[in-house]
Order: sequence, then structure tokens, then C-alpha cells
Amino acid sequence: MEVIIKSDKAEASKLGAKIIARLIRQNNKAVLGLATGSTPLQLYKQLVRMHQEEGLSFKDVTTFNLDEYVGLESDNPCSFYSEMHNNLFCHIDMAKGATHLPDGMAENIPDSCAAYEAAIAAAGGIDLQLLGIGHDGHLAFNEPGSSLASRTRLKTLSQKTIKANSRFFGSEDKVPRHVMTMGLSTIMAARQCILLAFGMDKAEAVRDMIEGPVSASCPGSILQFHERTIVLLDPEAASKLRRKQYYLDVYASKPAWQLWD
Ligand code: PGA
Repeated sequence: MEVIIKSDKAEASKLGAKIIARLIRQNNKAVLGLATGSTPLQLYKQLVRMHQEEGLSFKDVTTFNLDEYVGLESDNPCSFYSEMHNNLFCHIDMAKGATHLPDGMAENIPDSCAAYEAAIAAAGGIDLQLLGIGHDGHLAFNEPGSSLASRTRLKTLSQKTIKANSRFFGSEDKVPRHVMTMGLSTIMAARQCILLAFGMDKAEAVRDMIEGPVSASCPGSILQFHERTIVLLDPEAASKLRRKQYYLDVYASKPAWQLWD
């Protein structure tokens, strides 16, 4: 993992957006894996700005989101479909049908999950997967204990995640208990990953992911086996890392050709 600690969330989000923009400029048919939640919002704002001010075009880009709640219509304001539409898709020039999310209203969930995996494969696989991490170390909605070899499937949310996500729903009992999520193996198949984490409340999960043992107890730790993962942090999220100074030294000493910004 390449661990980059920026001065704040805004700078880390800018760098994440630059990496994605560079990929799209190199390959206008890039396949992006996208994430929801609070973490990527500033990065999405940067992509929208680059589209409006710098001519960054998404017209041949394809996207696959990590997850969706089961039982929420796509037009429900709490669905990840709505979140993606409002925060990114409605502001950029993506082609109709090029954005994909798991279908939380599918009648046959296992078939729908298998079709999602097949659609990713048919698109040529994911070039770059954007990720956040949960307080309990989850990646997408792969809660602790998830199979490290998992593929897209139904999962039950942990109490910790229900509590964390209740801020979007108004109360814990309104949060759906079930979700459809890409599996850890699906995420690991992406050719590159960028994981963002901000704030003190993510510091333990970040430490366990980067410096703990690889374990289903911290699903994010599977990324230690990924060949090309960049972790973008603010100083608070990085505060519990034992090798923090080393990561800072590595970034400060990078040869110019290796720098992202
Ligand atoms: P957050 O969620 O970005 O809202 O903190 C991240 C996650 O649960 O993976």
C-alpha cells in the first residue's frame, strides 16, 4: 500500500480526484468503481469542477458502485442511487446506462448479484476502485467476518454500521438491515484502488487495515495483498499509525516522476 498523508481532507480529496482524472485522460473508456458515504463527497466535487472548468469528460466512462440497500426504491433519497445521482452523475456527462449500482429491489437477489459480477467482467473489469473504510474496518458493506474470497452478495449490516448510517435515515430503526455489496474478492480484482479515510474516528480502523494482521476481522486489511492501492489520509485518520513518519518520509522523498501532484 502507498500511504499518503495530506495536510487535510480537502488536499487528500484533490489528490484522489487528480489520480482519477489522469486515468480518464489516459483512457477515456476507463471503468471506475465508486463509493458512497461522506468520505468521497469532496473528491466528487473536485471531479465535477474538473468537468466544468477543465473539460474532463466522462462520456465514455463506465461506473460500478460498491453497494446498495435492499428494499429501497432507487428514487428514495437515502438510496445510494440517489446519492450518486445527486452528488456526481447529474453534474457530469456520463452516458445513459453507463452507471451501475446493485439492484436493491431485485426479486431474485442471488441472480442479480451474479448478473452484477457478469456486468463488471463484460465491461473489462474495474480499472480503478474508489473506497472508504467503516469504523469497524468494513470495505463496501463487507462487515467483519466476511469471507476474504467473497463476491457480490447479500449482507446483513452490523449494529455499528446501522448506528453510523442512521444519520442519513433519521433513526436506527429506519436503516435497512440488508444490503447488496461487491465482495472483497470483487474489490481485489480492481486493477488499482484508492482508499480515502478522514477524521479521528477512523484512526483505529486505518491502523488495523494498514499495519494489523490480514484478517476477516478487519476486512480492509485484505488490501495489504493488493498490488496497487493508494491510501489517502488526513493527519487525524493517520494519527494511530506506528510507521506514520516513514510514510511521510517516503512521500517527501519521491522522485518527481512518481509524484501524483
Ligand atoms: P463514510 O462511510 O464515508 O460515511 O464514513 C464509509 C464506509 O462505511 O465505508
